[in-house]
Amino acid sequence: MLIDKNSLPKVDMDFMNETHFEDVDFINKLYENIEEFEKDNSITNFESIKHSYKNWLDHTVQHFATEEEEMEKRGFFAYPFHKAEHDANIEDMRDVWSSFEASKNISELKHYIEYDVVNWLINHIKSMDTVTARFFKTGVMGGCGMM
Ligand SMILES: [Fe+2]
Ligand SMILES: [Fe+2]
Repeated sequence: MLIDKNSLPKVDMDFMNETHFEDVDFINKLYENIEEFEKDNSITNFESIKHSYKNWLDHTVQHFATEEEEMEKRGFFAYPFHKAEHDANIEDMRDVWSSFEASKNISELKHYIEYDVVNWLINHIKSMDTVTARFFKTGVMGGCGMM
């Protein structure tokens, strides 16, 4: 297991926390497949990575779309900044996949998941998602000084 759900920062909206938990499940599954591929780089293990990467990507697209829909609906002023972070992340995920598909460089992929993805997710939840969820809940921007 790469990420422990209990270590994930929580925000003020349950629908967002639930999505983040699901996200962690997809990332942990992918990480498991990466470790299997490290031991045995068979086609079957490659296909498993491909499958779990696609599931994670699809879920992420949905995760971001749901947050963005809600921000638009409620007229959240920081929407363009939040959406820009989402868009850049999806682009990275797609680029990393294309690169891995071509190179089959598992240590590069593993490093991306272990460091970039984990850091991105935690930082994004602590910053953008926290402020956005507070706005959804209270209608105002709250500080996140306790984090
Ligand atoms: Fe989120
Ligand atoms: Fe977000």
